[in-house]
Amino acid sequence: MRRTHYCGELRRGHAGARVTLCGWVHRRRDHGGLIFIDLRDREGLIQVVFNPAVDTQTHALAHDLRSEYVIEVSGTVAARPEGTVNPNLPTGEVEVAASALTVLSEAETPPFEVEGEAEVGEALRLKYRYLDLRRPSLQRILRLRHVAAQSIRGFLNARGFIEVETPMLTKSTPEGARDYLVPSRVNPGVFYALPQSPQLFKQILMVAGIDRYYQIARCFRDEDLRADRQPEFTQIDLEMSFVDREDIWSLMEEMLVAVFREASGITVATPCPRMSYAEAMARFGTDKPDTRFGMELADVGPLVRGAGFKVFAQALEQGGEVKGICAPGMAGASRKELDDLTEFAKGFGAKGLAWMKVAAEGIDTPITKFFKPEEASAIVHAMGGKSGDLLLFVADKSPIVAETLGRLRLHLAGKLRLIPEVRYDFLWVTDFPLLEYDEAEKRYTAMHHPFTAAMDEDIPLLESSPLKVRAKAYDIVLNGTEIGGGSIRIHRQDLQERMFERLGIGPEEAKAKFGFLLEALQYGAPPHGGIALGFDRLVAILVGVESIRDVIAFPKTQKAVCPLTDAPSPVTRDQLKELHIKMDL
Ligand code: AMO
Ligand code: AMP
Repeated sequence: MRRTHYCGELRRGHAGARVTLCGWVHRRRDHGGLIFIDLRDREGLIQVVFNPAVDTQTHALAHDLRSEYVIEVSGTVAARPEGTVNPNLPTGEVEVAASALTVLSEAETPPFEVEGEAEVGEALRLKYRYLDLRRPSLQRILRLRHVAAQSIRGFLNARGFIEVETPMLTKSTPEGARDYLVPSRVNPGVFYALPQSPQLFKQILMVAGIDRYYQIARCFRDEDLRADRQPEFTQIDLEMSFVDREDIWSLMEEMLVAVFREASGITVATPCPRMSYAEAMARFGTDKPDTRFGMELADVGPLVRGAGFKVFAQALEQGGEVKGICAPGMAGASRKELDDLTEFAKGFGAKGLAWMKVAAEGIDTPITKFFKPEEASAIVHAMGGKSGDLLLFVADKSPIVAETLGRLRLHLAGKLRLIPEVRYDFLWVTDFPLLEYDEAEKRYTAMHHPFTAAMDEDIPLLESSPLKVRAKAYDIVLNGTEIGGGSIRIHRQDLQERMFERLGIGPEEAKAKFGFLLEALQYGAPPHGGIALGFDRLVAILVGVESIRDVIAFPKTQKAVCPLTDAPSPVTRDQLKELHIKMDL
């Protein structure tokens, strides 16, 4: 090894030592005769001094150094002179007096500064990702991601889990997204799908008697991308035999406690609270509530039913709801602000947004005339409105009310700075409906996936009242982000067939798509269940970044492109020919 130490590890105790360091020139400053270099490696920065009095030749060489040159420096560690100690740097008490210098690699002027943490456009950052990754902030994230992965591996290994790899070239597993397809050269006309998750393989591993499986698994989903979605992402995927929901919940809680402690020193309080899907939707308008703040949805239907406001009355008559939220201290909102909020609400399908301003002298609202004073004050009271607050209402079908107010709640809490930053609120959301109805396709679809078991007592409703059937499915939510989801599975072939039927998947189609699973279930399948955590999302929250792109070494853009490699890219005619593929563009 050329180096004796990492730059970032030198301390006062090293004073007097002869060292050889290797790294990148972070910054160069000429001070008359002396040249100062901040040398950087993955462990940090150290100041190197080139003094003509120490070695003229080395000093002369240092003149030509530029940012991001890769160099090897030998010299002696010295305590910095009085008054030049840099308290902001862990190595700030020392410097290295250089006596030898070798340039190992020159560097072009980088397209953006590695040195500072200046804002740089994402396209540029991703094109030059290797420069971006040199930045200390990203180095820290990759390391923390590594520590978190090791912590999870250690935790699961200690509890008898076996890490098993499942195929990447496989058959489609429905997790609700489109598949990435891979043509087969040796089998013309047919395709593999990249896995959306290892779901079916992990279930088959349970049939195989593995009992406890896990995998840090790459998953592929061709869906519209957002800050918390990537076309390929990583799951902490696991499955267990002979378990109930509670077993998985308590295991996951223990694991989260360990990861948060080991990766970030954060204490997670357990058991994590639990809330049914129905309660989450009613109180927060979403199945992934951010419970770090209040502003809960209030149902004012019973209070406005009899009042003269047509908009509200009609929504209720048509089986809808009228609900509201209270924005504390926002009674001063201007006309423009209220219009903007209305537009925001309309973006989620609401037809409008009604409001009331609560003031000491009374209630100010354009819909005053429709309410008797005692009706209006009953509403204010029910919503916990105080003088200075703004109440906002939506009347519509229940999903639109929930979506609009749920989003408004987050939007306003952000604006009003009501969300505490350094807090980790976990929540199990349980008792999801097994099915939802797809209006466009006129059929039922699985809310989690088709392999999820129904609550035993709800199974008889599968044909008669399908939307009432609750699933043994659960999500784990952290600060309003769904970081994982799982379920107890169907382990009986007859029930799995019945589920496919309910989903409009006929016996032929079921056999073609999932025959291997149905068959496996005939050969002694243990009851089993599991979960998958979105590892990228978990790490993003652990390090406090908005986008999972910041915790993935080589992420793709919103358009699913990799600017570094330019993937996806054209292929030659010959390649296509070999695959028996003709373009139709
Ligand atoms: P699910 O589809 O809920 O369940 O996925 C599990 C978790 O993976 C994360 N996730 C994503 N992260 C980044 N980018 C994406 N495109 C993306 N999609 C999902 C989320 C999510 O909670 N097989 C089941 C698990 C099971 O039943 O055991 C599954 O994949 O954090
Ligand atoms: P209008 O009677 O349409 O003039 O609406 C009166 C007020 O009610 C306006 O502030 C609208 O934005 C609001 N409004 C209209 N439709 C709805 C609705 N479905 N839910 C809540 N408020 C609404």
